[in-house]
Amino acid sequence: MNALSLFFPAGERMFIDAVRAYRDEIPDPDLRKAATAFIGQEAMHSREHIEYNQLMDAAGLPASELDAQVWAHTEYVKKHSSKVTPLLMTIALEHFTALMGDTLLRHPEQMAGSQEDYERMWRWHALEEVEHKAVAFDVYEKCVGRGPKAYAMRSAIMLTTTATFWPHVMMFYRRLAAADPACREAGWRGHLHLANFMLGKPGYLRRLLPEYLAYFRYSFHPWQQNNADLLAEIDELVDDAEAAYAEHKAA
Ligand SMILES: [Fe+2]
Ligand SMILES: [Fe+2]
Repeated sequence: MNALSLFFPAGERMFIDAVRAYRDEIPDPDLRKAATAFIGQEAMHSREHIEYNQLMDAAGLPASELDAQVWAHTEYVKKHSSKVTPLLMTIALEHFTALMGDTLLRHPEQMAGSQEDYERMWRWHALEEVEHKAVAFDVYEKCVGRGPKAYAMRSAIMLTTTATFWPHVMMFYRRLAAADPACREAGWRGHLHLANFMLGKPGYLRRLLPEYLAYFRYSFHPWQQNNADLLAEIDELVDDAEAAYAEHKAA
């Protein structure tokens, strides 16, 4: 989770800029409104993850160094590619956040034993990722198109994004684990435990494979996986967070 958190400040900045670059071209007023809401939500996530990553720094983990690598990568992409590339990367990565958000909400046992605020923060992010999962995708279809060329571009960028994002998650995980005394002590047993958790049993990442592959269907749309039922949790989460905040203020 910490390795993933390192991608959000720069990543979500790229999502915001990518959608903003098309906002004035969106023909449908409802989608334009959704794009504005998307930008607002990602800006809030990014702000929380900046703070989160600072806590990692304070705990002696190389967070700002790794965060700087993500910024360098997204800046490079923005500078050296056409306007559509960051949007294509956004819809690819939004597919990942939607799938991971779905798993996190459906299997809260994944975070059993976590500090409460930490868990609540991830649940909140997961919910909003599910809530806005189709916004950047719809912006792409409305502003760039839906034909064979649009399909080929989104599939190609999904492949390159998959091939760059996950190895970086692994690399960042290795760096964080190497800097953490408890992880160092767990050694290979710890890594195997994680690998089994993600890919073996229960295999939270492995189980996402069919939904991941659905992205390559010609007629794919994020809401074909209808998980809007999960959003009912939002009100409960807001109440929880407000109660915790009131408690914190009283203390
Ligand atoms: Fe987000
Ligand atoms: Fe998002």
